Amino acid sequence: MKKELEIGIIGCGAVAQIIHLPILKKMSNVKIKAICDVDKRKILAIKEKYNIDLVYTDIKKFFVENEFDAVMILTPTNTHKEIAEFASEYCKNIFIEKPVARNYKETEELRKSLEKANVNVMVGFNMRFRPDAMLMKSLVEAKEFGIPYLIRVGWFRPKSSSQNWFVKKSYAGGGVIMDLAINIIDLAMWMLDYPEVFSVTAYNFYHTSKDVEDSATAMIKTKDNQVITFEVSWILSNETEFFYFNLFGTEGAGLLNPLRIFKQVGTSQLELTNPNRATSANLYFKSYENELKHFFAAVNGLGKWVSTLSEASARMKLIEAIYKSALSNRETKL
Ligand SMILES: NC(=O)c1ccc[n+]([C@@H]2O[C@H](COP(=O)([O-])OP(=O)(O)OC[C@H]3O[C@@H](n4cnc5c(N)ncnc54)[C@H](O)[C@@H]3O)[C@@H](O)[C@H]2O)c1
Repeated sequence: MKKELEIGIIGCGAVAQIIHLPILKKMSNVKIKAICDVDKRKILAIKEKYNIDLVYTDIKKFFVENEFDAVMILTPTNTHKEIAEFASEYCKNIFIEKPVARNYKETEELRKSLEKANVNVMVGFNMRFRPDAMLMKSLVEAKEFGIPYLIRVGWFRPKSSSQNWFVKKSYAGGGVIMDLAINIIDLAMWMLDYPEVFSVTAYNFYHTSKDVEDSATAMIKTKDNQVITFEVSWILSNETEFFYFNLFGTEGAGLLNPLRIFKQVGTSQLELTNPNRATSANLYFKSYENELKHFFAAVNGLGKWVSTLSEASARMKLIEAIYKSALSNRETKL
C-alpha cells in the first residue's frame, strides 16, 4: 500500500469546487499533485485557495510532466470520453464523474477502449455511498425485507449546474434524466443487485426547455417481476430538495430520507426505527466522502473496484430505453 497517493484533477468547475476539492483537502492519504482546466483564471484561484503546486491548461503537458497514482475527470460530459482515452495512456486508475458519457454508444466505445488499455475506472454514482442507503442495502442482502418487489424513488431539486452546456443535449446527453434520474436508477439497480430489465414505460416533460427534459417519470419492469418507478424534476418542487427512496418487500419495507424500517407482521407493519430520532442531515455530502474513500482504497488495492464502466454502460442502455419510450409514447422492451 502506498502511503500517500498523488492525484491529478482535470476540470475545476462546480462539482470540483463544491464537492471534491474540499473533501480531498481533508484526506490525509491523498495529495493533489496537479490540476488542469482550460480556464486559466479558475485554476490560478484554486491553486491559491488549496495550495496546489502545479496547474495546467494543456492536458498533454499535465500528463507528460507528471506521474499520477490516479486522476479524476470532472469536466462537462461531452469531453469525458476523449479525456479518459487520452488519460488511459498515462494513468491506470481513473475516476469519471457521472454521467460517464452522453449516450449508450459513446459509453460502450469508452468501456471497450479503456478495457483494452487495462485501466481501472470508477464512475461517480455517489447515491449508493449514502450511509443510510448502505445500511438499507445490507438489510436487503440479509433478506430482512423478504423479496423486494417494488421501489418508488423520486428526486426534485433545481438543476445541479447553471452552466449553458448543462441544458444542451449535444453536451450533456439529456436533461434531468442525465442529472438526477441516472443516479437514483443506479441506486435502485444496485439495491436490487442488478436485475435484468424487461421493459420501460416513460414520460418526459419539456416545460422550461426545448432541448432537454426538465421533468420525467417512468416505470421499469424487471424480468423477475420487480417494478421500479421514478419521478424526477428540476421544477416541480417548491422546496430546495426533496428525495425519497421507498423499497417494499414481501416481509417488510425500507424508506429513505430519513431511514425508516418496517417489518410485516401479519397484515400490519411494525416500525423498527424511531421516527423522532431519524435524521437525513449531511448524508448527501457524506456520500461523496465515502465514494472517494472507496475509490482511493481500490487504487491502493484495499478494496474492490465498484461502479465500473460495465455497470455505467448497463445503466446507460436503460436510460436510452427511457428516452425511446418517452419519444414513442409506448412501452420499450430491452
Ligand atoms: N455526481 C454529482 O452529483 C454531480 C454533480 C454535478 C455535476 N456532475 C458532473 O460532473 C461533471 C462536471 O460538472 P460541473 O457542474 O462541475 O461542470 P462545470 O461546467 O461547472 O465545470 C467543468 C469544468 O471543466 C473545464 N473544462 C471544460 N473542458 C475542459 C477540457 N477539455 N479540459 C480541461 N478542463 C475542461 C471547464 O473550464 C470547467 O471549469 C459533469 O459530467 C456533470 O454531469 C456530477
